[in-house]
Amino acid sequence: MDRLLAAAHEAIARCRSIAECTEEPGFTTRSFLSEPMQQVHGLLAGWMQHAGMDVCTDGVGNIRGCYKKGVKSDRRLFIGSHLDTVPRAGAYDGVLGVVLGVSLIQLLDHRPLNFAIEVIGFSEEEGLRFGSPFIGSRAFVGAIDDELLDRCDPKGISVRNAIHEFGLDTSRILEARAQQNALGYVEFHIEQGPVLEALGHRLAIVEAIVGQGRFLTTFTGKANHAGTTPMHLRHDALVGAAEWITAVEARSRRVPGLVATVGCVSVEPGAANVIPGSVAATLDVRHAEDSIRKAEASALLNDAESISTRRGLSFRWEARLDQPAAAMDPSLMQVLEQAVIEAGEPVNRMVSGAGHDAMIIAGYMPSAMLFIRSPGGVSHHASETVLVDDVAAALKVGLRFIEGIEARHE
Ligand code: GLV
Ligand code: MN
Ligand code: MN
Repeated sequence: MDRLLAAAHEAIARCRSIAECTEEPGFTTRSFLSEPMQQVHGLLAGWMQHAGMDVCTDGVGNIRGCYKKGVKSDRRLFIGSHLDTVPRAGAYDGVLGVVLGVSLIQLLDHRPLNFAIEVIGFSEEEGLRFGSPFIGSRAFVGAIDDELLDRCDPKGISVRNAIHEFGLDTSRILEARAQQNALGYVEFHIEQGPVLEALGHRLAIVEAIVGQGRFLTTFTGKANHAGTTPMHLRHDALVGAAEWITAVEARSRRVPGLVATVGCVSVEPGAANVIPGSVAATLDVRHAEDSIRKAEASALLNDAESISTRRGLSFRWEARLDQPAAAMDPSLMQVLEQAVIEAGEPVNRMVSGAGHDAMIIAGYMPSAMLFIRSPGGVSHHASETVLVDDVAAALKVGLRFIEGIEARHE
């Protein structure tokens, strides 16, 4: 079998093994610094070492494998993506990008380069455990603060304590920061949408990643007996939240390019015969233009305020993320585009509606991303998949990309 195809089969099998490392038997759910993440590190460390890399885990739980065969300078190219998942996820979101980094090193077959390549598996990107995404890549760019370290998960464990429980030392977080002489960061990722499939193409170069805002909202009413409280004397927090969720959908449909989602709702006290007293609901708002995103997010929160006032509820919200849109680096995109052409693939450029570690890193070093077609356009779901020929094409592009970087730094 062609060596790229064999490597693609192996990469897919590795993603599927990693998908077995889960907090929820029968599904793939893996949050930041959870026990199954230790298993993932064990698997990756073995594959990285076999490919000739030195492996370590940094102070925030990112696994890092460095290939520096024959390197005399301290220049370094970073290849990475994330290893945490959404609840009941597929096998490829994030993981494929890390595994492909290792496959590329393996395909180099111990060939010396004039720069080091570091493959990073970021510990946190989805925001599942602490409601704040990108913790792994934020540490990588030196943007972790005490407010984030003190934030608690639903069990009351802070980020700081979670780091200790994972066997790491928070005093080493600063060491996670990338050194100054980085050549750039490249991320391979499934598209997570239907565009490439509709075009009948395998790959796309990401030009920019849309900005996103995340909020935690709380509607508070009055819990009371479901049998004895007449309808006109109720202050039902869930009915208020439900009216608002419908308003979120309606407003978002009116604004071109705006997507807004209430993806997680919890109701207190949560019994069939008790009127809901309080509801916590997340809000995720995205648009390519940051000014539109911010204005629409404010309008959506104002809608919640007015609905609550009319229904005799109180409403409060806190911002969990305000991540601006990020452009990828034109010069690194150029190297990637040349690699796509040399690999014999059509050139597509697209904007990512999903967030990625590259959007954090782009502010600190030249960054680029390659999307790989998502069959059925499905992601954040167990049926997420990839085609082996598409993965082989991505590996071909990756090898040409490394050669392109080499040629630039002779
Ligand atoms: C990450 O997957 C995101 O776009 O939320
Ligand atoms: Mn994701
Ligand atoms: Mn992802």
